[in-house]
This record gives sequence, C-alpha cells and structure tokens, in this order.
Amino acid sequence: MIALTINGAEHKLDIDPNTPLLYALRDDLELNAAKFGCGLGQCGACTVIVDNAAVYSCLLPVSALENRKIRTLESLGTIDRPGALQQAFIDEQAAQCGYCIAGMIMRAQALLETNASPSDAEIRAHMQTNLCRCGTHLRIIAAVKRAAAMGGITRPRAELASPTQGVVR
Ligand code: FES
Ligand code: FES
Repeated sequence: MIALTINGAEHKLDIDPNTPLLYALRDDLELNAAKFGCGLGQCGACTVIVDNAAVYSCLLPVSALENRKIRTLESLGTIDRPGALQQAFIDEQAAQCGYCIAGMIMRAQALLETNASPSDAEIRAHMQTNLCRCGTHLRIIAAVKRAAAMGGITRPRAELASPTQGVVR
C-alpha cells in the first residue's frame, strides 16, 4: 500500500511501487490535468509540484513520494474559478491545443512561489524544460509575466501544513 499526499488529501493506493506518479494520478485518482507526452522526461507535459519544486511525474515512482507533498493543476482552481496563473493563461490566450498547458502552469507556479518578480531571462530559463509543440511559447511567457505583475501567487499554506483525509482506495 502506498500513501500519497496530493493537493492536501491523503490517498492510499494498492498499486505497484514502481508505478510512475503520472499513471497513479491519471489512472487511479482521476486527476487528469498532467498529461503523458513522452514518458521520458523530455517534454514537461506531466509536470507537477513535489515539495515546492516542479518535477516530471512520468519519471517518479510512487514509492519515492511517500511523506512528500504533491500538487497538481487541480489544486490551483476550477473551470468556474480559475486560479491567478490559470486566469493569466486565459487572458493571454496562451493555449492552442492545450496539451502542454497544465505542465506549463505548474512549472510557472513553482517559479512564482519562490520568485514573485522574475526577469524575462529567469522566466525563459525556468520554463525552457517544458516544450510546446504548437509554438505558443511567447504567449506562455507573457502569461507568466502577467501573473507576476498581478501578484498573489502563493503556496496553499493551510493545505500543505495539514493534509486532510481524502479518497482512500
Ligand atoms: S511525459 Fe513526462 S516529461 Fe514528457
Ligand atoms: S498549446 Fe499545444 S502543445 Fe502547447
């Protein structure tokens, strides 16, 4: 049994410890924002935040993630109430097909939580590990800058400090 803390809720999963986090999110927990792109740590479509750092969920076995704090795009907002960074991506029309966007937003979220006013160079350096096959990189960078200018990108303190009991499988 593997215990994972995701978006502030604890989940107990009876799965192979070698299962990549991405598969557990999508196949066992119905958290479908993170996408399978390459499965090789080369595209960033699967990016989530673990202990406040952006990581490739396709490369991380769930056995390495017990007692770690995992966040997915679902923690940032909803369709009806998008989070600040999600709204900035909407305002800048930063998506074409959208396949890369959840990973882009989570990588940008990790940046803005630690650096509220990144320079253009810092944004480009931080985001360069995530690829967009539609070529919307300039709009994505504009969205990150918009969110930074608006301010208010913070870690969900209460959620991270005190995980609540969630779905148990
Ligand atoms: S699917 Fe994980 S980096 Fe491409
Ligand atoms: S919007 Fe299509 S891959 Fe980025």
